[in-house]
Order: sequence, then structure tokens, then C-alpha cells
Amino acid sequence: MEECKPILNTGLRGFKVATTKISDVDGLAGKLIYRGYLIKELAGEISYEEVVYLLLYEKLPNKKELDHFKKQLAEERQLPPELILSLENRPKDALPMDILQAGAAMLAHHDPDAKELSLEAANRMAIKLIAKFPTIVAAWSRIRNNQKPIEPNPSLSHAANFLYMMNGTIPDDELTGFFDVCLVLHAEHSFNASTFAAREVASTRAHMYAAVTAGVGSLSGELHGGANTRVMEMLLEIGSVDKVEEYVTNLLDTGGIIMGLGHAVYQTDDPRAHILAPMSKTMGERTGETRWYEMTKLLEQKGKEAFKRKKGRDIYVNVDFYSAALYYYMGIPADLFTPIFAIARISGWAAHVIEEQFGGAAPKPVLYRPDSHYIGDYCGPDLCAFVPLEDR
Ligand SMILES: CC(C)(COP(=O)(O)OP(=O)(O)OC[C@H]1O[C@@H](n2cnc3c(N)ncnc32)[C@H](O)[C@@H]1OP(=O)(O)O)[C@@H](O)C(=O)NCCC(=O)NCCS
Repeated sequence: MEECKPILNTGLRGFKVATTKISDVDGLAGKLIYRGYLIKELAGEISYEEVVYLLLYEKLPNKKELDHFKKQLAEERQLPPELILSLENRPKDALPMDILQAGAAMLAHHDPDAKELSLEAANRMAIKLIAKFPTIVAAWSRIRNNQKPIEPNPSLSHAANFLYMMNGTIPDDELTGFFDVCLVLHAEHSFNASTFAAREVASTRAHMYAAVTAGVGSLSGELHGGANTRVMEMLLEIGSVDKVEEYVTNLLDTGGIIMGLGHAVYQTDDPRAHILAPMSKTMGERTGETRWYEMTKLLEQKGKEAFKRKKGRDIYVNVDFYSAALYYYMGIPADLFTPIFAIARISGWAAHVIEEQFGGAAPKPVLYRPDSHYIGDYCGPDLCAFVPLEDR
């Protein structure tokens, strides 16, 4: 009898594992939708706080709701002193994403809501995590440089407060506005690897801290959120515009990957890249160092051309390509780019954890439990005969 071949959904590409009302990515048209709104219409028009409200509560807030929500977030920015103390005792060269992941897990120890499986507790945990993630990242950026963390300033917006806690100076409106747009663009992106990781953990009814900790771990990898750091490392390694073409050709000829190009879903440019690029250009002009923007622009052109020559098909820019130089212009060190991605994405993860556990308008979810095709043919077609330790 002919053996049935298993159907493998390798990497789950294109395989729908749940329904969601939170966001959608149209990979062919290059569209990203947050709860019914096109991202390109939201970016620059609304603040990150409004986007968070939209993701968590399924509607845009009115003025009164927004003011109240901003206040709630601002009141939750402080970290437990024990967490600061713990950060002060970490090795200074610890990876920032590892610090964030550990910090997220430690927050659970100080929150009685982690012991309660209810929508109310989940909504409270969401606010606490969204408010505290930037404080952890900013505190670590200072502690590792032997500086005292800066207390959050409740009178500042989410974006301005983060830059203030990082640098100790209140950013101007243009810088705040650009950073705010970055947060808006990175807040949510459907069932990407880290969101799926968070939802998978949430599907076991583990608490939100456990779920987002998994999300942070997943985001840290260079094929996912870690790519923005690697793009900047690549730009720094290339060093100047005149070396871009040679670098790209060598990289592809030796089987290397051009970070920031390619995507598992988009078959056209990532719409977020087109919003980030002009901000990077402006920041280059503002700082008087246009090199990083110009290199990125040329890298896009030469990378796309070289990929087409090599593989006979097109490749496109993703969100991490233009965010790298932009963050660098903002004075943010390259190894903090991925934690910054996380301080935006925490809102998307939180919304997904809530949807996973409490459904809302979407159908009731179930525990994820995929199957695998076992190819462990260690003893041919038969099972292996067990041999006791003394006879091996
Ligand atoms: C994101 C990514 C993992 C998607 O991978 P994927 O779904 O397997 O990509 P595709 O199916 O379109 O393409 C696979 C082929 O293109 C190559 N490829 C994809 N992206 C590439 C890149 N940025 N540079 C060079 N080659 C690339 C792969 O090596 C593979 O080659 P092969 O068929 O010879 O094995 C991949 O594009 C990548 O590694 N990009 C760089 C990292 C990055 O920017 N990640 C952030 C994503 S938002």
C-alpha cells in the first residue's frame, strides 16, 4: 500500500491558526490595518497612547477617555525598587533584550493581578506592562553606563518621557513626534513570531507576564526584531556610501543575508518603511550627518538589484531597514533598537493576550497544540531495543 505523505506547514507560513480582530497585514497590497484603520492614515495623526487605547479597547478614545488613559499610563511608569536594585546587580554587558525579558518576568512577582485570571486583571496588567517597559529599557541604558536611572516624568507623553529617561533632557516637539510615530508603527503586526509566541503561552491560561516574556524572547532574534540592530551594525561596518555596492555584492556572493530586506508576509515594500524613510532623512539633515540615511537609501537600491541578479526575483524593504539609522540619529545605541521595538510592541502583545484568553468579539480560542512529523529512524523501521546502562 502506498504510504501517505504528511502535509507539513513548515514555519506555519500562510497557515491561519486563529481569528483576530486586532490587525491585518495584506502582504500583496502592502497594507497594515489596526482594528479597521490603515496604518498610513494613523501615523503622524494620532499618538501612541491613542493607538494603545484602540488596540486594547477596540475603539479610538474621545478626548476625555484619552486624558484619563494617559493619566493611568503615567501613574504606572515607576518600577518596583527591588527591580531597580536587581538591574544594578546585573553584569553591565548583559544583552538588553535579556534584561527586558527578565525585568518583565520580575514585574509579575510584584503584581497580585498575575494570580487572577480575569479580563479586569488582564486589562490592568496590560497598562502596567505598557507603562513600565520603557522605564526598564531607559533604566538599563543608564545603569550599564554607571549612571543613576532617571525618574519618569508624569507630565510628559509616553514618547517624550522615554527619551527624557534615556538622555536626561526633555526632547523637542519634532524629536518627540518622530519617536511617537515609530512607536505607532511598531505597536502591532498580526501573527508575527513574537505575537504568536505570546498567544501560544496565553492559550495555556498562563498570566500576561509569562506570555509577554515569551514575546520578548522571540522578538530578540535577528530574523525578527533583532534585525534593526543588525542593520545598524551593517551600516557601521560599511562605513561610507562609496563602499555600499561592493559590500552588498560580497555579502550575497558569500551566502550572507542583507538585514532589513525580505519578509515572511509582504511581497512588496513594508508600508512602515515608507513612513520611516523621510523621518530618517530629516533627522540626517537635522544632525548634519546625512551619511547613514544616504547609505540606507543606496543599500536598498543595490541590495534589491543584487538580490534580483542572484535569485531572479524581487526582494523588498521591511520595517527594520529605515528605523535603524533613524534611531541612531536620535542618539540611541544600536543594541537598544530591539528593546525599543519591544516597548512599542508590548501593546500589541497585550491586546493579543487579552483576545486569546477572553475572546472579545472573536470566537473562543483553544489551547495551541500543533503536531510534528517524527523522523527519528534511529533503528531503521523498528523501535530501538533498550540497553541498560551497564551493558552500553
Ligand atoms: C525575514 C526573512 C526571515 C523571511 O525569510 P523567508 O520567508 O524564508 O524569505 P523568502 O521565502 O522570501 O526567501 C527565501 C530565500 O531568499 C533568501 N533571502 C531572504 N531574505 C534575504 C535577505 N534579506 N538577504 C539575502 N537573502 C535573503 C533566503 O536566504 C532564501 O534563499 P534560498 O531560497 O536560496 O534558501 C528573511 O527575508 C530574512 O532573513 N531577512 C533578513 C532579516 C530581517 O530583516 N528580518 C526582519 C523581518 S521584519
